Amino acid sequence: MASTLPDEPGQPPKLTQATLANKSNVVTEQVINPFEVSGGVDETGKALAIDFDKIVRDFGATAMTPALLERFERVTGKRPHRLMRRGMVTSHRDLDKMLDRYERGEPFYLYTGRGPSSDSMHVGHAMPFELTRYLQEAFDCPLVIMLTDDEKFMHSDKITIKDAKRYALENSKDIIALGFDPKKTFIFSDFEFVSGAFYENMCLLAKHTTFNQIRGTFGFDEHVNIGKIHFPATQSATAFATSFPHIFGEDELKTRNIPCLIPCAIDQDPYFRQCRDRAEKLKHKKPALLHMLFLPALQGPGSKMSASVSTSAIFLSDKPNEIKNKINKYAFSGGQDTAEKQRELGGRADVDVPYQYLSFFLEDDDELERIRQDYESGKLMTGEIKAICIKHLQQFVADFQERRKAVSEDVRADFFARKALLFQGKTAEQMM
Ligand code: TYM
Ligand code: TRP
Repeated sequence: MASTLPDEPGQPPKLTQATLANKSNVVTEQVINPFEVSGGVDETGKALAIDFDKIVRDFGATAMTPALLERFERVTGKRPHRLMRRGMVTSHRDLDKMLDRYERGEPFYLYTGRGPSSDSMHVGHAMPFELTRYLQEAFDCPLVIMLTDDEKFMHSDKITIKDAKRYALENSKDIIALGFDPKKTFIFSDFEFVSGAFYENMCLLAKHTTFNQIRGTFGFDEHVNIGKIHFPATQSATAFATSFPHIFGEDELKTRNIPCLIPCAIDQDPYFRQCRDRAEKLKHKKPALLHMLFLPALQGPGSKMSASVSTSAIFLSDKPNEIKNKINKYAFSGGQDTAEKQRELGGRADVDVPYQYLSFFLEDDDELERIRQDYESGKLMTGEIKAICIKHLQQFVADFQERRKAVSEDVRADFFARKALLFQGKTAEQMM
């Protein structure tokens, strides 16, 4: 249960605003799916933190361990990314098998995605992409990025097809500006790309999936539109290399043996549990996964930063002043009410949103640890830790915006072009 969870940096704080508002004292269970994320509510009406042990227990994910991170470092020769070092990559499926393949020089690819639901992405969305960028560098492998404009159309009462396509285009430029290598990256949107081999895999998956299985995993009822019921086949088809003959070649029998590794936040796991359950029966490789924590909302403790609640999020398009005002005004503080009390008792880094954000964005481990100690000992005031957080987020967003300006239509088109991608410098033909 929540009370046994360690207060690690990056661990979402224990109370969520949304569930704090639940006064009815109805006990609810943890729900984690692409449409709802909540740790549940106990009998006193208190929100519970997301229980990652439960995910490991109930859904057969494997907890990340220091030993596996050490192996990652040995095999790739790269220091694990700060999100890995700090326990924000909480669990995985088959990462060890991907490391085996890497050691043997056998190809695999990375797959991640974005459901384009707004014109600009927020800094939370940048996190799985940042991890993916690092992994692409570490493994020197192909990467496929899926923009699920169709999913956002199916799941929203407001978003039209035209909106979703525009968001996909704009978001793709955000993603490109996060620093991917065009020689090794293919970006596509569903409305534009779904056809041919990809569509065949969608149908293969759909044929072997029942309504009951989808209902059980996603919690849909029989009144839901059938687009939502079918969509999991679309998200899963990207996990099969044979969906992309232009990347991996036309030799389907060989391409079937190329698995993918999917970095994502934990809400996306249900799609890939579905996919893993039937991959081998369909003579494809099971996708491997890396699960990471959510960047908390500004209101903090608990649930995730969300693009649809603009005061919960720092957007990649925010101006320096907006970042400053949002942090100062909304960021949940783990500090004491007065400076005097703060000096005496210190703040609580584990529930402090500015500290949580620093633990996602600040690269230097020693500096982060110094900030934590100073904050908890009362040397650092609430306003001061907010100021440090503002400075680093402003820097992150300003650097991003510089790179975003350089993403021309030609650059974008290069990422969407259907071309072969390299694994450790070699094309599929050269490795066969
Ligand atoms: P979407 O657009 O909801 O989210 C995109 C990615 O960002 C993660 N995420 C977060 N990470 C950290 N902090 C947050 N506050 C936060 N909010 C969202 C999501 O887990 C996801 O990794 N259906 C998908 C699109 C998709 C996809 C994929 C994602 C298609 N294929 C494969 C990951 C992997 C979606 O709507 O994501
Ligand atoms: N042809 C390779 C095999 O038979 C697969 C492969 C080769 C590959 N090169 C690649 C996959 C480059 C991705 C990228 O196993």
